[in-house]
Amino acid sequence: MAASLTLSLAVIAILASAASATNITEILSGFPEYSEFNDLLTKTKLADEINSREPVTVCVLPNGALSSFTGKYPLSVVKNILALHVLLDYFDAPKLHKISEGSVLSTTLYQTTGNAGGQLGFVNITDVKGGKVAFGSGVPGSPLDSTFSKSVKTFPYNLSVIEISKAIAPSAVLTAPSASTSNITALLEKAGCKTFAALLASSGVLKVYESAVDKGLTIFAPNDEAFKATDAPDLSKLTNAEVVSLLQYHALASYTPVGTLKQTKGTIATLATNGAGKYDLSVKTAGDSVSLDTGVDSSRIASTVLDSTPLCIFTVDSLLLPVELFGKAPSPAPGPAPEVSPSPSPAETPTPASSPEPAAAPSPFKSPPAPPTNSPDGAPSEGPTADSQNSTTDKKKNAGVALEAPAAMKMLLTVSVSVFACVLMS
Ligand SMILES: *[C@@H]1O[C@H](CO)[C@@H](O)[C@H](O)[C@H]1NC(C)=O
Ligand SMILES: *[C@@H]1O[C@H](CO)[C@@H](O)[C@H](O)[C@H]1NC(C)=O
Ligand SMILES: *[C@@H]1O[C@H](CO)[C@@H](O)[C@H](O)[C@H]1NC(C)=O
Ligand SMILES: *[C@@H]1O[C@H](CO)[C@@H](O)[C@H](O)[C@H]1NC(C)=O
Ligand SMILES: *[C@@H]1O[C@H](CO)[C@@H](O)[C@H](O)[C@H]1NC(C)=O
Repeated sequence: MAASLTLSLAVIAILASAASATNITEILSGFPEYSEFNDLLTKTKLADEINSREPVTVCVLPNGALSSFTGKYPLSVVKNILALHVLLDYFDAPKLHKISEGSVLSTTLYQTTGNAGGQLGFVNITDVKGGKVAFGSGVPGSPLDSTFSKSVKTFPYNLSVIEISKAIAPSAVLTAPSASTSNITALLEKAGCKTFAALLASSGVLKVYESAVDKGLTIFAPNDEAFKATDAPDLSKLTNAEVVSLLQYHALASYTPVGTLKQTKGTIATLATNGAGKYDLSVKTAGDSVSLDTGVDSSRIASTVLDSTPLCIFTVDSLLLPVELFGKAPSPAPGPAPEVSPSPSPAETPTPASSPEPAAAPSPFKSPPAPPTNSPDGAPSEGPTADSQNSTTDKKKNAGVALEAPAAMKMLLTVSVSVFACVLMS
């Protein structure tokens, strides 16, 4: 019996990490006194992160309690403050009043960003005299000047929402550099993506990226190995305009951290998207692994280089090959590299609205300069062939199947919960 109990607990633990049963945005929308906090969770995309985790405790602040920060600091800093208010453990009122040894350090979501040095990513929860519970930064010597006010909502033992009196905002979190001033080239080079960084610069696409940062930008940077892989495409067979499209395909015009990617259903537009369904991607999640499916191939997100609103930079294992440039999927057998589709005629050449002047940019490619904007403005570009559209559809179907998996898991979970309950009752 002990063994089966352990087993069901293990099953529950595994499944709980994969499923998300609660929606923090919806829960807080029932409490207008926390509307500012709720809006910020949405703006910073922390809501997605919270929804994809359990157990979790959200320490909300009443309206006005964050105004001294929101008026003074960029959203990236406000996000870090908020991330300190998301505890990766379940604390409801009874548990807060029964803290062993009277004091505990709880890991927060800020700790998971990798930017927290020392105990900056922890929150100190201390049961002080008189039945009060005090909160403060985990950094030794920090004031414990925020107190537990009340329990707002609990979903034992997945999610607890509690109100605390004052923001936890240690000075080291306030002074983190802002992402809008980051040097994308330097970050990419340091992360082992020198080839990609060089291509961005020589094609002029770096400027497109830089001008997009303020409104939100997510970059999927293939590492240097990806360009050397035997199945890597021969970029010299592409026109300059195609290279521009390919590079723009490696970014999204929004701040989309991993937690948000995991919640993405259907396809997402890239910077290269120039019409419905063109140059888009779909996301596949398996546990902690997130992959991007182009319809031609699938590339795994290997690491996070930077996650700081409004900019996210990830490395990916292989180049993202859009159907529009690389045609249908190669045969599943270990076959030849994906064929570069016959060069589209000028009229078919994708011409992203924001593409820089390819002719002006020095090009590392042998191909002749592409006719940049030959396609008549009104005429829709041809886009994918019938063939590639079919393969895209197939991929979408597959993604749909993959997305249905959580439902099956929930069923399994229900079964294991019943088993668990039976075990407890027997
Ligand atoms: C959560 O709820 C909000 C508001 O009701 C909704 O806009 C959002 O799409 C929901 N998120 C998920 C992941 O279902
Ligand atoms: C929490 O802070 C108090 C006061 O600074 C300190 O005495 C205590 O050791 C801290 N708790 C933990 C678990 O570090
Ligand atoms: C806790 O999480 C599990 C797994 O996601 C879910 O099935 C269960 O309904 C949740 N419990 C509550 C009270 O929300
Ligand atoms: C960004 O970094 C690159 C490579 O380290 C360097 O060459 C470039 O001058 C930097 N740009 C700025 C604006 O600092
Ligand atoms: C694409 O699918 C449609 C409908 O299934 C079919 O009629 C058409 O022949 C297919 N096209 C190609 C190129 O396979």
